[in-house]
Amino acid sequence: MTALQDQIIALKKKKNATILAHNYQNREIQEVADFVGDSLGLAYKAQESKSDLIVFCGVHFMAETAKIVNPQTKVLLPDLKAGCSLADSCPASALAAYKKLHPHLYTVAYINCSAEVKALCDVICTSGNAERIVNQIPQDREILFVPDQNLGEWVIEKTKRPMKLWQGNCYVHIEMTHESISKIRAQYPNAPIVTHPECDRAVRLMSDEVCSTEKMVHYCQSSPAKQFIIATESGMLHRLRREIPTKEFIAGPTDRCNCADCRYMKLNTLEKLLAALETEKPEILMTPELIEKARAPIERMLEWSKN
Ligand code: 13P
Ligand code: SF4
Repeated sequence: MTALQDQIIALKKKKNATILAHNYQNREIQEVADFVGDSLGLAYKAQESKSDLIVFCGVHFMAETAKIVNPQTKVLLPDLKAGCSLADSCPASALAAYKKLHPHLYTVAYINCSAEVKALCDVICTSGNAERIVNQIPQDREILFVPDQNLGEWVIEKTKRPMKLWQGNCYVHIEMTHESISKIRAQYPNAPIVTHPECDRAVRLMSDEVCSTEKMVHYCQSSPAKQFIIATESGMLHRLRREIPTKEFIAGPTDRCNCADCRYMKLNTLEKLLAALETEKPEILMTPELIEKARAPIERMLEWSKN
């Protein structure tokens, strides 16, 4: 641990704070976190937290979700500019207009969306539970899935349930292409390809496993393989290398770069994390009405996830 990391840990204890970090955070942040996980795991941890303060090292929609499921706790995001291209691809006003024209649709929102969008939806899902959630929607309902067309397409393949798909995507995952992943496969022909469902169909089809970031850890742990190509954001490799030090993890490249960094996730730094703990800012603030409206579909997801 560095001096800065020691300072963060000491202040976190003094303030009775919990640091939650997404799998895409950089290594130094993952090392000081109380819990590192995927969107689903982080939502459960936020819900059960008894701390006075939650510092969420991830992106805005994740910190908002933490606030919605635990509204009496102060939730901080070290950099408020940590957004998400996928969440941005579905503005609440556009979804509201679409739903007005198609009021019969049952709307499932992938958790990567704003609180305002969540408030317009019937149930939320993450990449870790999407199949399970969609399978529980009454059969007589026509479904609209927002905002990720790739994850939605993957869920259709898994559930065989037709859905209308919002045409949004994650700029990081769609930069991994059949060509870029084929090049790395040629270098490591025996390494299974482990892919996030936000990647497009051509990449998913050439993969050995398609799953959420948390399930990637379990897959790589239980597989007999010693090398893996990881087709998702680069922070995931820190988590895998820490938890499974005996195996080798190779970053899935994009057409431009040897690994894929999410520019939003990478806005969080140790310095900003310390400043957030010291000043208790920037805080996630929402009206009680918005919290109330967005909470119902998230709680439905957390309940359905246990079934
Ligand atoms: P996970 O829930 O699988 O961690 O995914 C979150 C995300 O933002 C993927 O880009
Ligand atoms: Fe959003 Fe993509 Fe970054 Fe995940 S990796 S937070 S989906 S922009």
